[in-house]
Amino acid sequence: MLILGIESSCDETAAAVVRDGREILSSVIASQIDLHRPWGGVVPELASREHLEKIEPIVEQALTQASVKLEDIGAIAVTQGPGLIGSLLVGVCYAKSLAWSLDIPIVGVNHIEGHVYSVAFENPPIEYPALALIVSGGHTNIFHIPEEGKYKVVSRTRDDAAGEAFDKVAKMLGLGYPGGPAIEKLAVGGDPKRFKFKQAKISDGRPDLSFSGLKTAVSRHIRESGIEPVANGGEPSTEIRDMAASFQASVVASLVGTLSKLAIKLQPKTLIVAGGVACNLALRSVAEAAAERLGVPVYFPSKHLSTDNAAMIAAAGQFHLTRGERAELEMTADITLRLQNLENRDAELRRSKIRYRL
Ligand code: KG4
Ligand code: ZN
Repeated sequence: MLILGIESSCDETAAAVVRDGREILSSVIASQIDLHRPWGGVVPELASREHLEKIEPIVEQALTQASVKLEDIGAIAVTQGPGLIGSLLVGVCYAKSLAWSLDIPIVGVNHIEGHVYSVAFENPPIEYPALALIVSGGHTNIFHIPEEGKYKVVSRTRDDAAGEAFDKVAKMLGLGYPGGPAIEKLAVGGDPKRFKFKQAKISDGRPDLSFSGLKTAVSRHIRESGIEPVANGGEPSTEIRDMAASFQASVVASLVGTLSKLAIKLQPKTLIVAGGVACNLALRSVAEAAAERLGVPVYFPSKHLSTDNAAMIAAAGQFHLTRGERAELEMTADITLRLQNLENRDAELRRSKIRYRL
């Protein structure tokens, strides 16, 4: 079956045509990075307006690139939440109208579940139980997935998401937005051991994560040592490079350390590392080394599937459609949609239909 995936939860308008949940015929992404860069972060009002302008041409482009017509599409999968309400509504309303006019099924997909499915294209099929670290600008969670579609949060960030910490520290260092790629670039050649940024200790002993203390430690260091942020286009000092490398190493160590601890306890057959921060090569190499030590394969999406895209939404949608799930046309965006076990999903979908109805 051909599924049209649609994603508009934050600042990327994306559409993709995917066959049988595993083969990408097209994946088109319109990034709004340039639009939001002057503000140093995503401006929700600007994001939703831009989605409105882009959604139609992006879907058309996805169909053209896949060499298919609208009539060839068997179903639509659209990101229902979590995300920004205005942004989500553009995708959800567009997808519902299209499904209605074509008289084909539609399912709402949880964006985070989409990130889990981003590894479905370039790796062997996922063996369960799996353990998935989903690490992006909005989320940092580790899910235990005993079988396909069943999720248990076994670790979460207590404060900032890891990508958010990258973005905030980049801002302090005078780097551009988004901060993750900028810090990674700066960290190349920097000394990751020069600054000892300690990993947060969670006082109740749960295997949770925390990045706000680390961010504060970097900020204090910048203030106390009088480091000059990188001027526009200026050559960064060795100190700034070392600080970027040390910060990155600390984030990576706490993510992979927690993932490893949980893997020892839960004995998964597959590890998954996905989400925008999974683009980070330091994270990939440390996670790969840990997986090798544990004797468990680790799956990453390639770079263009790590950040937000619609192919991953179509792949997750395929699973739900195959189970027979169909969303009603009253289905609407839900900014707080949680990743549920299948048993609770139907109830959640029913509840979410009445929220944020236009
Ligand atoms: O998954 P994503 O595109 O959007 C969300 O769902 O949040 O993730 C975007 C986040 C941003 O915070 C960005 O700084 C971070 O992923 N990111 C990175 C890298 N590339 C993107 N963080 C660290 N290293 C990178 N190379
Ligand atoms: Zn995302």
